[in-house]
Amino acid sequence: MSKLWRHLQWYQQRLGLSAYWRQLVFYCRPPRPVPDGFALPPGFEFRFLRPEELEPLQYPGGWLSLPEARQWLERGDSDMLAAIRDNRICSYLWVERRVARIDFLDLKAPLPAGHVYISKVLVSPAWRRHGLAGAMYQCFVTREPELTAHSACVTDNFPMHALFSKLQWRRRLAICSWRLAGMRWHRMEFVSDGSKTGFLGARRAASLLFSAGESGW
Ligand SMILES: CC(C)(COP(=O)(O)OP(=O)(O)OC[C@H]1O[C@@H](n2cnc3c(N)ncnc32)[C@H](O)[C@@H]1OP(=O)(O)O)[C@@H](O)C(=O)NCCC(=O)NCCS
Repeated sequence: MSKLWRHLQWYQQRLGLSAYWRQLVFYCRPPRPVPDGFALPPGFEFRFLRPEELEPLQYPGGWLSLPEARQWLERGDSDMLAAIRDNRICSYLWVERRVARIDFLDLKAPLPAGHVYISKVLVSPAWRRHGLAGAMYQCFVTREPELTAHSACVTDNFPMHALFSKLQWRRRLAICSWRLAGMRWHRMEFVSDGSKTGFLGARRAASLLFSAGESGW
């Protein structure tokens, strides 16, 4: 896709003119002990970052620009967990704690107490397939094992589906979103019993996303 076309799409979207159909698959990990034998890859420091560390540690960009990432940290309801080596961020993920800001579907979904949403995972290309993404997820659930963690990826992100499967996260639901002429509809399909919601407005979809009753929470 050309750069010009991508820019046009972006502006159309900002003006509410674009049409799309998108799908995200949600996974979840209820509180449970981390299996024995888990060890972080050697040579990296895994920790949460403070806003003023982003620049000196050469925040690699990706999902959010540097000012946006700083703003997210300063807002105080999200944390960035990073793997650091040689004073550089090699990978990161976000832990959203009160509201999941799911830009891809234009949804802001409230998180119930005791639930977090892990999002915007990025491993710098040079460090892919070194176990960093898996280690960041495991590191987080080891540190905060009492929480129910959620995360999501698009249908065709096969590496992420393989990662969730390897970590034994449960596939929970798929949400489809349509946007046309400034209007949006969402529909959810729950994996546990195959049930589907009707077409929902953004508010209803956001409120159901993490709170729809399910056994095992
Ligand atoms: C997807 C991504 C986060 C994976 O990071 P990573 O550090 O390379 O992943 P890991 O090394 O921890 O891999 C753990 C498991 O994930 C799966 N996996 C990771 N990359 C894979 C790939 N390219 N193809 C197939 N499976 C893959 C495998 O099951 C792997 O286990 P294995 O190495 O024992 O086979 C990374 O490729 C990335 O940043 N991609 C671009 C951004 C992105 O898609 N983010 C997710 C948005 S939801």
